[in-house]
Amino acid sequence: MINLLQKLTTKEKIGQLLQIAPFFFIKDLEKEVYGPLLDLQLNEEKIFLAGSVLGIGSATEMMEVQKQYLKKSKHQIPLLFMADIIHGYKTIFPVPLALASSWNPELVKKAARISAVEASTAGIHVTFAPMADLSRDPRWGRVVEGFGEDPYLTGVMAQSMVEGFQNDGIEKDGNLAACVKHFAGYGASEAGRDYNTVDVSRYALHNYYFEGYKKAIDAGAKLIMTAFNVIEGVPSTTNRFLLRDILRDQWKFKGVTISDYDSLKQTIAHGQAKDMEEAALNGIDAGLDIEMASSCYTNHLEKLIVSGQVDMKLLDEAVLRILELKKEIGLFENPYKGASLEQEEKLVLSKKHLAESLKVAHESAVLLKNEDVLPLDKQTKVALIGPFASSRKTQGSWSWHGRHENNQTLIEVFNLEKADVVYINDEVDALKYTKKDLEQLKTADVILVLVGEDEKWSGEAHSLSDLHLRDGQHLLVELAKSLNKKVVTVLFNGRPLVLTNISQSDAILEAWFLGTRSAQAVYDLLYGRVNPSGKLTMSFPVNVGQIPIYYNHLNTGRPLEFAENPNTYVSRYLDVGNDPLYPFGYGLSYSKFSYDPLELNSTTLQKEDALEVKVTIQNKSDVDGYEVVQLYIRDHHAKVVRPVQELKQFQKIWIPKRQKRSLTFKLTQTDLSYHLPNGDLVVEPGLFTVMVGSSAHHVEKIQFELKEDN
Ligand code: BGC
Repeated sequence: MINLLQKLTTKEKIGQLLQIAPFFFIKDLEKEVYGPLLDLQLNEEKIFLAGSVLGIGSATEMMEVQKQYLKKSKHQIPLLFMADIIHGYKTIFPVPLALASSWNPELVKKAARISAVEASTAGIHVTFAPMADLSRDPRWGRVVEGFGEDPYLTGVMAQSMVEGFQNDGIEKDGNLAACVKHFAGYGASEAGRDYNTVDVSRYALHNYYFEGYKKAIDAGAKLIMTAFNVIEGVPSTTNRFLLRDILRDQWKFKGVTISDYDSLKQTIAHGQAKDMEEAALNGIDAGLDIEMASSCYTNHLEKLIVSGQVDMKLLDEAVLRILELKKEIGLFENPYKGASLEQEEKLVLSKKHLAESLKVAHESAVLLKNEDVLPLDKQTKVALIGPFASSRKTQGSWSWHGRHENNQTLIEVFNLEKADVVYINDEVDALKYTKKDLEQLKTADVILVLVGEDEKWSGEAHSLSDLHLRDGQHLLVELAKSLNKKVVTVLFNGRPLVLTNISQSDAILEAWFLGTRSAQAVYDLLYGRVNPSGKLTMSFPVNVGQIPIYYNHLNTGRPLEFAENPNTYVSRYLDVGNDPLYPFGYGLSYSKFSYDPLELNSTTLQKEDALEVKVTIQNKSDVDGYEVVQLYIRDHHAKVVRPVQELKQFQKIWIPKRQKRSLTFKLTQTDLSYHLPNGDLVVEPGLFTVMVGSSAHHVEKIQFELKEDN
């Protein structure tokens, strides 16, 4: 690629750094794209020097864009096609927060694999996923796109997605290059307001926020996207500490960096750059390669190079990384790589893919409450009320290729399954239920209240300050309960909600947005065709005032257990407890599992050795089921205070009815180490507690001591 690079003029090199939308190439340039063109101030010459395209919807479109582009390309450097394939292309899988709730990395990998197979038939080469932004704040709408509040689990899921997308190499058809995002700390936006300031310590970055991106990169992710927020007062997009010190120097990342949408230009609004020229200077200096959807580089970099303010070497490095990526994907041999009308027809929404989507959906829902009502019996007379009875909008945000008409409604599935449905009403307003409605409702044994939030309400720029169900949907639960019926509430939403005002439900199933097969999955779970096995990966708060609330917090000097009487000065609220309503790792099953006391192979551990932690779990019920066995540790004394609990390993295991299973976890130094604020990884001898159980709050405990090596 060096030879090719040397043939390029400065303008041509800079072109490679520009990413624009496909419509620049296929519509009548003068008329249709006049507005955006004006905004970006791109003339035709610059457009046809662009290096990559963002968002493409079909093989036909891709081929047309590439054809038009190559007609005018002097060096025949093909365009690279990127898109947001987040949880499916046309076969939609559960939203990432739900995928994480499956605690099944293999299944998550499968979902990514199928998404890649489908998307690459449209000639897409790069996906802007996984989103590895850890978040402790459900007010932030983008928690739906991530994997929750835990660094380890986020890392495991991010890695699975990268492996699923990239599979056996990005040069092969059917695989996508993964672009992990948004580097860094985007999920820590203050007060959960999207794009807001992030102010976290390096200690928190190294120990919590970095882990997801790092694991994705270690798994081979080819690109990384910067974030909209600042870190230490510097926008992530122009942040040298992030893009050079951490990414290149410490993590040895060799791939391509890309800004988020318009985020290079937005450094002006942040107040870091005075104009686009300065933004370009800051970007290239910090190590930003591709500029998405703004034109600071295209319109200003050349001048900076000619005047000597920017060394050509920096530009060359960035361009070379992009050319190498194109080469690795195989675009120079076949600029239309992947795009195929026949494959599109054959693979997209295939039976096999839909069946996989259903399987993933089954494992992604979380049963939050069940007081002797679920699973339902086929003979049970059920009523379906609430807006999700007849809704197809159960895909969640970032499923822009998914079509609602491919989804079923719950009513359709209940009818197909010949369930005994005695009453249906999708009215959201409880006051609109007439006397006659109530009479009919009374004929049911169980009332299913199907409520939640609009699928677009969790996602980018959709932050909320109130996490209750909206539009008085909780009144439907009250109404159903007032009829002295068993009430099962099914929730369709993309973030932890405040559920205290629906707690009179006899059962609550958190169905998130489960994708194309959502309705079938919910039916199968309610009727026990499938035993629920999902577990929360974010705490559900009692109220919004508790936020941020997360299980792996530090202890204070005045923890709650110091309270001897109500007047003691301890760290707590006066009006609500410190615990969430539903903790991290929590989720019920139709099986009943119990944990025997833990066994260790030793109560001391030399640094180089491994400690074996044996746990035996019994299924005391008559239902076979999966259990997610979670192992946490606590490092009691360290130079820098460590969390009260940290997830270190987990296994999802199948335990047949009335049987027990034993597992042995091996703990090594890696599990016991942590980062000092300067990033150094250390392991300190001393007392540790190991906790194993079914959620962060339901654990068996045992202690051991880590010894210095002799
Ligand atoms: C989002 C990114 C996304 C990009 C391209 C931005 O607004 O923050 O997550 O990948 O748009 O669609």
